[in-house]
Amino acid sequence: MTQKTVKDYIRSIYDFPHEGIIFRDVTTLFADARGFRMAIDQLLTPYAGERIDKVVGLEARGFILGGAVAHQLSTGFVPIRKKGKLPGTVISEAYELEYGEAVMEIHDDSLQPGERVLIVDDLLATGGTAEAGIKLCRRLGAEVIGCAFVIDLPELGGGKRLAAMGMPVHILCEFEGA
Ligand code: PRP
Ligand code: MG
Repeated sequence: MTQKTVKDYIRSIYDFPHEGIIFRDVTTLFADARGFRMAIDQLLTPYAGERIDKVVGLEARGFILGGAVAHQLSTGFVPIRKKGKLPGTVISEAYELEYGEAVMEIHDDSLQPGERVLIVDDLLATGGTAEAGIKLCRRLGAEVIGCAFVIDLPELGGGKRLAAMGMPVHILCEFEGA
């Protein structure tokens, strides 16, 4: 019998949150001890030997992964949150959603110029969320050395969008469709 891969632990839920959408549910990956450890280990693989000063996680599922990645690397963790959640002074970036716009924020003193940062999230779809995160880190003078995701939905173009920003992207698995 072949060993389960990270992808095998991800549950697909049909017609959530809307009819016709297949929701890729990482809670089943996170809940499994072997699956979760495998995902964290694999997220880190390309960065062995690289200097990373901070891990930045994108709300909300990027916090779960990013916290574990930061612990493994013995770095600090910095959250990028949706508008209005961070208590200190923030800088903001708007990004497009399917309908309308959303805003991501970071504390303006959470990264120092020249710090080398790894951004972590669960899923790359259109890349709008990650692009906003990259811009926020860059505006604070940090160098984003890469973005690591568990899942890519290549048909939504996020990989190409981040490549156009000169951003190396690391993904653990892909799913067809949106
Ligand atoms: C999902 C996912 C990514 C983002 C990817 O988060 O967790 O963060 O969408 O989409 P994109 O590449 O098209 O920007 P969501 O905004 O649903 O919020 P959550 O993580 O707080 O649930
Ligand atoms: Mg998210």
